[in-house]
Amino acid sequence: MTLPSPDESRADRREAPAPKPGILEITPYIPGKAKAEGIEFPIKLSANENILGCSPAAREAFIAAADRLGAYPDGRGEILRAALAAHYRLEPERLILGCGTDEIFALLNQVFLEPGDNMVQGQYGFGAYAIGARASQGEVRRAAEPNYRIDVDALLGEVDERTRLVFIANPANPTGTFIGERDILRLHERLPPDVVLVLDGAYAEFNTDPTYTDGLGLARGAANVVVTHTFSKLHGLASLRVGWGYAPEPIADAVNRIRLPFNTSIPGQAAAVAALADAGFQAKSLALVERWRPWLTQQLGGMGLEVVPSAANFVLVGFPPVPGRTAAQAEAYLARQGLIARGVGNYGLPDHLRITVGLEAHNRAVVGALADFLGDQSPP
Ligand SMILES: Cc1ncc(COP(=O)(O)O)c(C=O)c1O
Repeated sequence: MTLPSPDESRADRREAPAPKPGILEITPYIPGKAKAEGIEFPIKLSANENILGCSPAAREAFIAAADRLGAYPDGRGEILRAALAAHYRLEPERLILGCGTDEIFALLNQVFLEPGDNMVQGQYGFGAYAIGARASQGEVRRAAEPNYRIDVDALLGEVDERTRLVFIANPANPTGTFIGERDILRLHERLPPDVVLVLDGAYAEFNTDPTYTDGLGLARGAANVVVTHTFSKLHGLASLRVGWGYAPEPIADAVNRIRLPFNTSIPGQAAAVAALADAGFQAKSLALVERWRPWLTQQLGGMGLEVVPSAANFVLVGFPPVPGRTAAQAEAYLARQGLIARGVGNYGLPDHLRITVGLEAHNRAVVGALADFLGDQSPP
């Protein structure tokens, strides 16, 4: 064997390590802000967290897990797998556990996308889907969302022979809208059988509309549907990073081959099991959203703002693109009152703010501050 001379091997090389094509064109995920300048304890309404915190039982389970911090977790998360299987009546081997559902989206993209393939999502699709697809060198196709809502025909219109995945958050973030069971079934029926339909149910528990389904029923009998849920929203465990998916066994098996070996932690698994069992805390969390979501919608709408009908734990509010009254100025105004809302310009919605439903005092403070903001005729 003849080795290349040092000069020949160097000729092939670049000046410095270079990420593979496309990586540096990805805009990193922008999380909701947590700080407001000059305010020590602002109210964070920018990340759709549970304003009530988490179940006391989950907190206790987390603290009890402190005795085991030196140990690796069970890589298959058997205690959580068993609890989810029993709670939702699902086959344990079809469950995927992830470091948040974000990890599951990334893994699905990795499993299915090759350069030249594409994934399809709505115009305002949740940011993590596209990051994962582009990291796998897939193309991201965006279907129009008239009235901020997923349109099945528009999605189908983007599907071609290189489409491997379709992602839908239902209810969606950042719009808060949802599509009903009939639309989900129609979409599934018309998709080619080799395209994976991912139904992200991060906000599913906040939607009690009778026409809604998270898709678990469909997924039970379909070979190409994955449904995901998270412990970050209703259960209030965002910091612990626990999400799960229900997939056909061959997909769960493929994901399992490439995931990190210990992707959910001992405290995360323990707290999630306790949270799942705490129906009282779940009901209280849902009741809070059901009480204040319509109130926020009505109050903000009454001020002449556009409020997109929401089925999640937040509302998307449109501002007039008028100097002095813009969404960015409203965001800054709220921040000065210690209320952190979420600008969504990165979703192509520069005239909107997304505001998580808070406690009564928070919601009243938001409405009061925005009334002042709109009523204040002094120059910005
Ligand atoms: C639509 C949607 N899906 C998934 C997630 C992420 O959930 P997780 O914390 O499980 O990664 C979010 C979080 O904001 C979301 O809005």
